[in-house]
Amino acid sequence: MSDFHLDDRIYKVIGEDGFDRLCAGFFRRVPVDDVLNTIYPMDDLVGAEHRLREFLVQRFGGPHRYSEERGEPRLRARHMPFVIDKLARDRWVQRMEEAMIECEFGGPINQVLRAFFDSAATFMINKDG
Ligand code: HEM
Repeated sequence: MSDFHLDDRIYKVIGEDGFDRLCAGFFRRVPVDDVLNTIYPMDDLVGAEHRLREFLVQRFGGPHRYSEERGEPRLRARHMPFVIDKLARDRWVQRMEEAMIECEFGGPINQVLRAFFDSAATFMINKDG
């Protein structure tokens, strides 16, 4: 089975509620992380949470509401206004990992999500150091 199909099944298993809980857990951590809270727009964390959630739902086999609202993801380009170095990338992945563990999705789900976050977050790095 290709990764594509495996990824698609995540939505069927964890549903809207799973992505809700995952993103809520992540964005609960953003304001208290001393790196992430200098990068994220503190006046629109509710909006940021919504955009990430809708993207992940779409990416992992759910409805394509993200693209209906925002168009093509073009995530690397959309992250260019923010300075993302390796430290910021690592914090992002760490906070998402904590949120994921809190959700107790189970090993196979975590493995697929972790592999995606790990490589996608590296792709967002746009500054050395
Ligand atoms: C797995 C990696 C990542 C994914 C899937 C992801 C996904 C997204 C998505 C879907 C948006 C909304 C884009 C839009 O529609 O405008 C967004 C915005 C943003 N991301 Fe990421 N991101 C990732 C990594 C990172 C990293 C490493 C950082 C830096 C620490 C970061 C910081 C931000 C910021 C500051 C925004 C703007 C918040 C907003 O939507 O208002 N992201 N990200």
